[in-house]
Amino acid sequence: MSEPVRIVEVGPRDGLQNEKTPISVADRIAFIERLIGAGLPIVEVGAFVSPKAVPQMVGSAEVLRGVSHLPGEFHVLVPNEKGYEASQAAGAKVIAVFASASEGFSRANINCSIAESIERFKPVLARAKADGIKVRGYISCVLGCPFDGEVKPQAVVDVARTLWDLGCYEISLGDTIGVGTPVKARHLMRAVAGEVPAQNLAMHFHDTYGQALANLYAGMEEGVRVIDSAAGGLGGCPYAPGATGNVATEDVVYMLEGMGIKIGVDMDKLLAATNEVSRLLGRPPVSRVANALNAKKKL
Ligand code: HMG
Ligand code: MG
Repeated sequence: MSEPVRIVEVGPRDGLQNEKTPISVADRIAFIERLIGAGLPIVEVGAFVSPKAVPQMVGSAEVLRGVSHLPGEFHVLVPNEKGYEASQAAGAKVIAVFASASEGFSRANINCSIAESIERFKPVLARAKADGIKVRGYISCVLGCPFDGEVKPQAVVDVARTLWDLGCYEISLGDTIGVGTPVKARHLMRAVAGEVPAQNLAMHFHDTYGQALANLYAGMEEGVRVIDSAAGGLGGCPYAPGATGNVATEDVVYMLEGMGIKIGVDMDKLLAATNEVSRLLGRPPVSRVANALNAKKKL
């Protein structure tokens, strides 16, 4: 359990993609600058998706160009070749394709079946390989689907294996609607790790039912060492009814530090990043740790 952990900060993408309040490109860049400054070197900064599907991510090219001088690894979502071309024009070096373990969510999110989505990703992965671009693979609804209900671990294993065989360097397992519980999360990680090495898996857990930290802990016990989280607990998917934010980066950092795992994050600076984006959004953060630390400051 003391092995190092890598955090992928997804606040500027997953966090902001579901917000009603539009956040300007300049404010998104400033948010990413603060996150990098707080010691989070891997940040998902945008998505090259249809502007009709997710208007919040319009301007992702400007955001990516605006942070490219910073020391960090910047990820962007790419659903198809059109998105790949836009990502390359903006200078993306790491992209993420996103599939689903359930047909209902695949259809709602990217308007195609799981099999069709894999066919769309094939040319993206082939071009990325030729261009020297790293590709991460997301799988949504790994512990339940808002449309299809229960999702069998085997369905997740099959998609994970396919994305791995196509050349994704890491497979991020998304509990999109945050319905998982620790024993199920553990079994899922064990099942997927039978096909994809545990060190190439990531956990992307939304905290809708307050189980995300416990689920992360269970996954860590299975050897998974990459955690996706969002500053302040921002997040949600416009195509996943009822889903709330990602597990909060503050909460993850607090738990890891409490376990003696050095993560290199300056909590004061992270809190400042969260407080500023919360001010822009006009509501307090969801993160328990952020709220506790803000309350302590006022004493
Ligand atoms: P479609 O309608 O089937 O696509 O959408 P299409 O190829 O028929 O094209 C329709 C229109 O979209 C055309 O424009 C295309 O040019 C345009 P029109 O002629 O109507 O003006 N288009 C694009 N524009 C910009 N960039 C592109 C692009 N592709 C087509 N890349 C599509 C299919 C996949 C494009 C659409 O459904 C889409 O963009 N979906 C994205 C949805 C999304 O971003 N969801 C949130 C991210 S996933 C998530 O949050 C889960 C995750 O966090 C993990 C977890 O928590 O589980 C990753
Ligand atoms: Mg997500």
